Amino acid sequence: TSGLRDAAAAKGKHIGVATQSWYLTDSKYSSLLSNEFDIITPEYQMKMSEIQDQRGVFDFTEADKIVDFAKRKNILVRGHALIWHDALPSWVVNGNFSKTEWIQILKDHITTTVSHFKGKIYAWDVVNEAFWTNGDYRPSIWYTNIGPQYIEMAFKFAHDADPSAKLFYNDFDTEVTNAKSNAMYQMIKSLKSKGIPIDGVGFQTHLTTDGVNYNDMTNNFQRFAKLGLDTDITEMDVISHVFKGSFEAKMKATADVYSNVYKIALSLPSCKVFMTWGLKDDHSWLNEDTGFQEYPLLFDNSYNKKPAYTAMESLL
Ligand code: XIL
Repeated sequence: TSGLRDAAAAKGKHIGVATQSWYLTDSKYSSLLSNEFDIITPEYQMKMSEIQDQRGVFDFTEADKIVDFAKRKNILVRGHALIWHDALPSWVVNGNFSKTEWIQILKDHITTTVSHFKGKIYAWDVVNEAFWTNGDYRPSIWYTNIGPQYIEMAFKFAHDADPSAKLFYNDFDTEVTNAKSNAMYQMIKSLKSKGIPIDGVGFQTHLTTDGVNYNDMTNNFQRFAKLGLDTDITEMDVISHVFKGSFEAKMKATADVYSNVYKIALSLPSCKVFMTWGLKDDHSWLNEDTGFQEYPLLFDNSYNKKPAYTAMESLL
């Protein structure tokens, strides 16, 4: 094969996509995926609402299908996401517990989930999206009931359950220097100084055709790398309904953003993984999230390579 995965591997990088278990039964999808990519993550099926819909009752059926597929195809798995403010079961959303009990709930969820997949996960997103844009902590269920210490607790519990998995903090709109990435930097620096086991920071990289300041992005990634962390691109896609111009020009603008970000990933040793949030455009969450028809990914609805794919390929 000569997919993106082999070319990326030659540069020491892993390249992948978010997926859902039911896509994998389509042979066209699954063969393209395993030819092109060497790392996957469940787009939804490892979130708390899916895994622990009732307290203490864990269901790993769908997540297992993804992890088993990966094993058969020699593909790595990023686990996503242990602790998040969203995709919570209703017993958590409506829960009225003491602080001690909330900590126990956090611990049980992490310990049971990470233990179940022990040895099969390359990296876990342990905590996802803990900050607001202005750098304040997001008042999630976890923050409100436990306090900011929920973050370090989560990392410790995850490490205890699978010391070999890399542990990540993951967030969006943190690609460049701003109030949010500054807050994230301070938080992670403090975790490191306390000896909390954290190995990387995931930059979701949900961008628009406007792109970002790529020099600033490089500098921002480098300050995290200097803390000894991996700086991976975990959920890239490009919103383009904001773009004014022909469809062709829009796809070119999308390709430029991919190319610029991939260049950064290739240039920084701390960027080991580059992932997009889905394989083909009609699978993208952005179609619902923005309410517009989007063309954010590397393949079109008929599995054709898009200009964004070609632009990335030409960098390798
Ligand atoms: C999204 C999924 O793509 C959707 O299917 C789901 O409805 C909501 O979650 N940041 C994240 C991801 O970390 O978990 C989100 O995934 C997209 C934004």
